[in-house]
Amino acid sequence: MDKKEKIRDHFELEAQEFDEIIRKLIPYYEQMLKALTASIPFGKGEKISVLDLGCGTGTIAKKVKELFPNARISCLDLAKNMVEMAKIKLKNFEDIQYYVGEFEHFEFPEKYDVVVSSLALHHLVTEKDKIHFYSQIHKALNQNGVFYNADVVLGSNSHLQDLYMKKWVEYMKRNVPEEEVESKWMKTYEEEDSPAKLMDHIEWLKKLGFADVDVVWKYYNFAVYGGVKL
Ligand SMILES: C[S@@+](CC[C@H](N)C(=O)[O-])C[C@H]1O[C@@H](n2cnc3c(N)ncnc32)[C@H](O)[C@@H]1O
Repeated sequence: MDKKEKIRDHFELEAQEFDEIIRKLIPYYEQMLKALTASIPFGKGEKISVLDLGCGTGTIAKKVKELFPNARISCLDLAKNMVEMAKIKLKNFEDIQYYVGEFEHFEFPEKYDVVVSSLALHHLVTEKDKIHFYSQIHKALNQNGVFYNADVVLGSNSHLQDLYMKKWVEYMKRNVPEEEVESKWMKTYEEEDSPAKLMDHIEWLKKLGFADVDVVWKYYNFAVYGGVKL
């Protein structure tokens, strides 16, 4: 089974319990998402078009809709079951479109004012894939559109990386049995995730022409960062 199939199977199986699990595994998940949505620089009533990449169960799209009730949101995810959960969570909201598909083959069907993503883009495997996808996002943004990503990242040297992993494992062990952290969640991280250094992401975004590139929020190896297309 290749990496992509593994990731798809993982999220297809986990969809029902995802909302419970993610809060046990990701430190300050809610705070991180607040920083992500607070970065969107539009007025409450504006009819912005938003793309949520790797929407999962629709948590970010719901938060965006609560902040921007007139937003039109497109939700993309690889796992059908995650999208089905998102449909349930978002059933009371209008103007939401769903796409089941992969980042790598997504043909951005329109231009967006906002592209957001949370805990999903680290699944792009190589540096080349990541930079290419960032360039696609840049192309798909309207002028003054923004891209913000909340994600797991790597530290800039091995001391920092060891510290980040220690802090992350400490957090998980407070919420799930110690044995499960090692045998399940660390294994999943090693087999499925391909994070890159935060400072590399920042450089890639700048090189691709994003302006005002910034790190909005950070807790060890979790960060919210992005920029503007002028
Ligand atoms: C950890 S979940 C995060 C879900 C949601 N964004 C959140 O923060 O609650 C990652 C999501 O990314 C999706 N995903 C992973 N790789 C993908 C790919 N190559 N194309 C599209 N979606 C992908 C998974 O199916 C999963 O739903």
